[in-house]
Amino acid sequence: MAGQTHGNRSAVTCHLRCGDACFQAVPNPTQNTSETSYFRDVATKVLSRRSVVGTGVAAAALTAVPALPAAAKPGTGGPKPGGGHGHRHPLPFTAIAPAATTVDDVTVPVGYRWDPILRWGDPILRGAPAFDGARQTPEAQAGQFGYNNDYLDIIETSRNGTRALLVCNHEYTNEGIMFPPGTDPATVIRTAWAAHGMSVVELRRRRRGERWTYVPGAPLNRRITLDTPFAVDGPAAGSDLLKTAADATGRTVRGTMNNCAGGTTPWGTVLSGEENFNQYFRATGTDPRESRYGLSPTQDSRNWRSVDPRWDATTADFRNEPNRFGWIVEVDPTDPTSTPVKHTAMGRFKHEGANVIVNRDGRVVAYMGDDERFDYLYRFVSRDRMQPGNSPRARRHNLTLLSEGDLSVARFTGDGLEDGVSDGTGEWIPLTRGGRSMVPGFTVEEVLVYTRLAADVVQPTKMDRPEDVEPSLRSGRVYVACTNNTDRGKVGKEGPTEPNPRAANKDGHVVELVPGHGDHTTDAFTWNLFLICGDAASAGTYFGGWTGPVSPISCPDNVAFDSEGNLWVSTDGQPSAIRVSDGLFKVPVEGPERGRVQQFLAVPSGAETCGPVIHDRDGSVFVAVQHPGEDGSWAAPQSRFPDYVPAGGTPGAGQFAGPRPTVVQVTRTR
Ligand code: FEO
Ligand code: CA
Ligand code: CA
Ligand code: CA
Repeated sequence: MAGQTHGNRSAVTCHLRCGDACFQAVPNPTQNTSETSYFRDVATKVLSRRSVVGTGVAAAALTAVPALPAAAKPGTGGPKPGGGHGHRHPLPFTAIAPAATTVDDVTVPVGYRWDPILRWGDPILRGAPAFDGARQTPEAQAGQFGYNNDYLDIIETSRNGTRALLVCNHEYTNEGIMFPPGTDPATVIRTAWAAHGMSVVELRRRRRGERWTYVPGAPLNRRITLDTPFAVDGPAAGSDLLKTAADATGRTVRGTMNNCAGGTTPWGTVLSGEENFNQYFRATGTDPRESRYGLSPTQDSRNWRSVDPRWDATTADFRNEPNRFGWIVEVDPTDPTSTPVKHTAMGRFKHEGANVIVNRDGRVVAYMGDDERFDYLYRFVSRDRMQPGNSPRARRHNLTLLSEGDLSVARFTGDGLEDGVSDGTGEWIPLTRGGRSMVPGFTVEEVLVYTRLAADVVQPTKMDRPEDVEPSLRSGRVYVACTNNTDRGKVGKEGPTEPNPRAANKDGHVVELVPGHGDHTTDAFTWNLFLICGDAASAGTYFGGWTGPVSPISCPDNVAFDSEGNLWVSTDGQPSAIRVSDGLFKVPVEGPERGRVQQFLAVPSGAETCGPVIHDRDGSVFVAVQHPGEDGSWAAPQSRFPDYVPAGGTPGAGQFAGPRPTVVQVTRTR
């Protein structure tokens, strides 16, 4: 990022380089300054049991896995035969060694290979031109795969396993490495609008078990960008808080942006979280309702307001434009003509994503993290029950499930250690119930538009940047990836608490929630600290009770499950935290290997591991390689993944000399 001003990660000034919120963490002060004195008491208890969490047992357990040769060349897992680690999982592998940050390659286990499926700029829509990085246009980008792929799913659409839909978020742009110096600023801005959003792309293969290829121009292919019309639904639709000079109804929004993680629903739609929307706006900075979301006079380094006044929230016309972002959006990937929806019932914050589970009574429950230091964990419970099947009637009904329901926020109490002393307990504190506000002084519209401020009133637990929150469909337990929070314990900041047990938490942790009586709609839960991440040099690590060797892991971000219920964790921030590249890790959550972290993959220089998708029975794993070479420049790229055009060489047709965010599939070679 050095030497350019459009990007949003500003690693030049960031001492952590810890992930998406990193760029915001540096110029932004911590945005939650609300008092939760309640946790002062809890912190005392935490500190008193540090000897249990502390370095003694866990650090002794943390020995590096045996080193394997680095991949011999892009696309292979190295020359030596490997082997499973003792059980018959459909994806047996021997853990890879952590990759040095200079390895500009996807590293996979012996017996596996990797291949790109889609790269930034690959043409998707019919008529879209081949990628030409030196001459980008908004029109071309609007038909091509967007930038910085994040949430990913591969949804099979045929019984014989030969067709699938790839659905992907495009979180943000990094103009300094995307565009040649001297590109017309308005072209940069409009192209960036088209590079945001989402993609839906048809995949094909001849038979199950083969690698997928994408189909340019296929009928279901779709780009959703900052110009795509969205409908607003739920209790805040039509609110004055959502009206602007361009939308007097408060019911239609142009576009979605900063789409980070997400989830696929049982009725076949995809949810996507609008995360760091504040960075695109200029705001007054004088309204606490703006400041609580990080909106300020100085955040909009991309200067989008120079091309469209809607990005200037200091004007009366567009004061409410920021209120129209920060939602969970729902997209039907099977209907490219459908209008995607912003669900106000699920609240407005820096949504990492949303993952849904069907409760035993048929209501659907979504778990959601607000990815900011000291922000909260949320739950949405639908008013209505899911209708089974895929009839047109059931489908119409299920598409409304996230439109009305109850929103609540988590407060943790008790001791979440598996030390036999006591279990953690917690409760979901209602913010809305039955369509009404449960927060004194807030209307229901205010609760939903200014959710962070409403939650502050009821004193939830301030978490260490909750990213993905995903229920296991096998066990019903819910896993919360708290990626890091190096501010915890700083002067004037909250210290360690039960579910966030470390000061200066550079490595993050994973919390395991157990719904009361197995009912996801009940307000009581219990919880455990499942992983307290780090390497041998990190204090206070813990791996679910496992005491054997583990792969070093830091900054958990996205999570997924395989067919056996094992948790897979992808990371964002290891280079700054434990000095190795980010990666993908498998960790059993049950049985004798509970907590045994094994690294499956590492991403190229500067990249974050997003996705992931684990189709273990199909022998494949998919990841979205986001922001490779993010700190480079056009003239001096820090990654050449995945085209590997030699330095000083001329890119071939459709190639790019610098890094390209890319969706990768990993498959078995034997
Ligand atoms: Fe976009 Fe919270 O990661
Ligand atoms: Ca992150
Ligand atoms: Ca990201
Ligand atoms: Ca993320």
